[in-house]
Amino acid sequence: MTRADDTPDKASAAPLHMIDIIRKKRDGGALSEREIRFVANGAASGSIPLEQLAAWLMAAWIKGLSLDETRALTLAMRDSGEKFSPVRLGKTAVDKHSSGGVGDKTSFLVAPLAAACGVAVPMISGRALGHTGGTLDKLESIPGYRTALSLDEFESVLKQCGASIVSQTPALVPADRILYALRDRTGTVENPSLICASILSKKLAAGLDALVLDVKTGSGAFLRDVRQAEFLAALMVATAEMAGTRTVALLTDMGQPLGRAAGNWIELVESIELLRGKQPAEGPESNFDLRELSLILAGWMIHLGGKADTPESGYERAEAALMDGSALRIFFEMVEAQGGDVSVFHDAEKFHKPGVTEVVTAWESGFIAEMDTTALGWAVQRLGAGREKAGEPVDPHAGILFHARRGAQVKRGEPLATLYATSAAQLAEPREILCQAITLSKDPPHAVVPLVSRIFTRDSAEKYLQNAVR
Ligand code: URA
Repeated sequence: MTRADDTPDKASAAPLHMIDIIRKKRDGGALSEREIRFVANGAASGSIPLEQLAAWLMAAWIKGLSLDETRALTLAMRDSGEKFSPVRLGKTAVDKHSSGGVGDKTSFLVAPLAAACGVAVPMISGRALGHTGGTLDKLESIPGYRTALSLDEFESVLKQCGASIVSQTPALVPADRILYALRDRTGTVENPSLICASILSKKLAAGLDALVLDVKTGSGAFLRDVRQAEFLAALMVATAEMAGTRTVALLTDMGQPLGRAAGNWIELVESIELLRGKQPAEGPESNFDLRELSLILAGWMIHLGGKADTPESGYERAEAALMDGSALRIFFEMVEAQGGDVSVFHDAEKFHKPGVTEVVTAWESGFIAEMDTTALGWAVQRLGAGREKAGEPVDPHAGILFHARRGAQVKRGEPLATLYATSAAQLAEPREILCQAITLSKDPPHAVVPLVSRIFTRDSAEKYLQNAVR
């Protein structure tokens, strides 16, 4: 059992015990700031064993954390390690973070797009979590790319390129590094307070001036229900603003994978095609949504970073940086500065060497009416793109390429998706999941789902929370 008293809060001198904190949360009690700091510091230092942290996470998941507890956890996790100060960059520091989705690769587009328009993007990201892919795992499919940089290296890449995408480390948000990996393995991901603390601890530790949050709704989101997603968006905006970071949250559609590719390397390939100025694919496999959402998010970043009067003019600036190749140049510079070999992008198809490939075809003619995107995300993870145990390597080439997307009309026998895995034995379960997850119907889906359904700013977030907790 852990026993320590390592918090600055002097309200009580009594020593804290992790077992008491677990039991208190299990029984629905409200934890004090001191108790929450004890948990975050104990996770970061390793003084609390993983089984106790896992039990606490499950108790917090089931009983929930109040607004005060959520704020305390966010700040304690932010403070669990060193913090980055972007002041020496001489630019406004702005970032984007998503609440987690399938095929969500906008970071590879928005970071260089915003950097090309004059803001600094110090991005601390995560690995695959639950059914969703991880930005770091995707980047590490580039041979040599280092995600665990020291703060000095982080600053030097940012000075050179304007953007840098790195991981939590034992020095940088160590509490999230431990709790994130543990949540992934213990079924404790889908909770608004835990998601808020995880995301914002990283973003606040990066010293951002402004933040754009992409909160997913629909079948592939951690919080599928629109009310829960709205609550998460409002909670994160209010918490980040309270900590001094100007923040907006966009509620965006995750009722299907974003773009065509879901996996590791194949997501980078799709992103680079768009950064090369290629127009989105046409027809049933169109990835217009990926390009559009990336430009909208980058537009907000550029606006909040003071480089455009409105998000719409930010969008136009981002589109110009996409079309003139400046964002692509920045992305390649960043990859090289972090040790990555950009030559793999010269012939991306040649570098793609999955162990096995299988094309899944339509079992009847009809329209793709629905996609259970969480199930599709699990199929991608089980092809080898994600891990069963914390710390396991992932297969850079595993994943799914979709040939037809929601609303598309397909004929029996036409390709729906291509699966990539390491070995043939890994194909059966994902194939079965995929066939169950796609609903083919005689009629086209009647509802057109907007890409962005709602935007929360500080004022609307606070009003929303006041009504929600009343
Ligand atoms: N992204 C994070 O960093 N943490 C979460 O909990 C979910 C998405």
